[in-house]
Amino acid sequence: MVRVGIVGVGNIAAMFIQAIEYYGLSEDTVGLIHEIIDGYKASDIRIVYAVDVARTKVGKDVAEAIFAKPNTVPKLVDIRNLGVTVRMGRILDGVAAHMVDDFQPAPLKEPTIDDLADELKSYGVDVLVNLLPVGSSEASRFYAEAAARAGVAFINCIPEFLASERSCCELFERSYTIILGDDIKGQLGSTIVHRTLTSLVAMRGAEIAESYQLNVGGNTDFKNMLEQTRLASKKISKTAAVTSTLPKPEEAFQRVHAGPSGYIPFLGNTKVSYIYIKARGFLGIPVVMDLKLVVDDKAMASAVLMDVVRLAVALKKRGVKGCPHWASAPYFKHPPKQARNEEEALINLYTNLERIGISIEPRKLHLFGAI
Ligand SMILES: NC(=O)c1ccc[n+]([C@@H]2O[C@H](COP(=O)([O-])OP(=O)(O)OC[C@H]3O[C@@H](n4cnc5c(N)ncnc54)[C@H](O)[C@@H]3O)[C@@H](O)[C@H]2O)c1
Repeated sequence: MVRVGIVGVGNIAAMFIQAIEYYGLSEDTVGLIHEIIDGYKASDIRIVYAVDVARTKVGKDVAEAIFAKPNTVPKLVDIRNLGVTVRMGRILDGVAAHMVDDFQPAPLKEPTIDDLADELKSYGVDVLVNLLPVGSSEASRFYAEAAARAGVAFINCIPEFLASERSCCELFERSYTIILGDDIKGQLGSTIVHRTLTSLVAMRGAEIAESYQLNVGGNTDFKNMLEQTRLASKKISKTAAVTSTLPKPEEAFQRVHAGPSGYIPFLGNTKVSYIYIKARGFLGIPVVMDLKLVVDDKAMASAVLMDVVRLAVALKKRGVKGCPHWASAPYFKHPPKQARNEEEALINLYTNLERIGISIEPRKLHLFGAI
């Protein structure tokens, strides 16, 4: 059993919890990246703990809270109450000034780090998933530290640099547990598609002259990112994910732009990405690519989370500590160490899992005859 705790019962949580129900009951495996990791199937994932600060969500069963405002993920499966009541969290910088109406805090006592760590232990949480709004620097560190104190694995889905920061890795190492992150990649999201195209350009001997990736969406995630001061790490995370596929990443940073660029309420969870690449090709002749990608942003993140929660528990069970970069690289935009491309990331993952004795099925690279 993989016992999951959620920090921030927003739209990703709403999609993820319904996905667990769907894949847990169905024979359908289309859409799952890996069906079985260390013997764990989707049906082995349980939500056992959830924490939020919004008065619309705290105190409700998590199966009800995922449909409370301002979440916009529709009801996709019939879901019974899970017997898990959303607990009050610590607000800190989780709620930006312009988001107070959306995430109006419940008037309840906020927990200390020790309270949180005790709750994680008493609920038997194996892995805690950080789904706070972008810019939640203090709040993310608060929950990460509580997880470390409780010896619980931590998954950092947001662009706060924790798994990619030395001191945080050391904290998890000393606590005999792991942290995976930072900033979750979508299954077929703008980062992985952009990275794949730029690494293809480099592989074929051409050079990126300039490239941008503009993203618009209509949920609280995009509304929260209207505040520029909360965005610094998001832009670094997204841009570095692309430039790291190129021969001289530091130089390329000036010629690549990737980041959120607009909130359009009627889009809801639909994210539209415009990816433009201009390459200098043979004889310096330009090659131009323009791509429009339309996805359900929350489905994209949840598909990756289905793998990562099982992986985190499997690694912790085998005594892996700190920030194993090869476990984060296929799944996060800003891992402790970036792989040059998606194939390399996956090969590193498979090789290391084999070394530790963790099975993962089906191995995707077989499809291309690469491993
Ligand atoms: N494809 C993706 O959706 C994707 C990809 C990468 C990163 N992310 C990041 O994942 C995070 C979660 O995304 P989402 O769409 O579910 O967000 P969301 O806006 O739907 O939900 C955020 C939740 O956090 C709660 N919250 C705010 N402050 C809190 C605190 N201090 N303690 C506990 N809860 C608090 C809010 O009440 C809300 O329920 C965001 O930071 C997003 O940028 C998403």
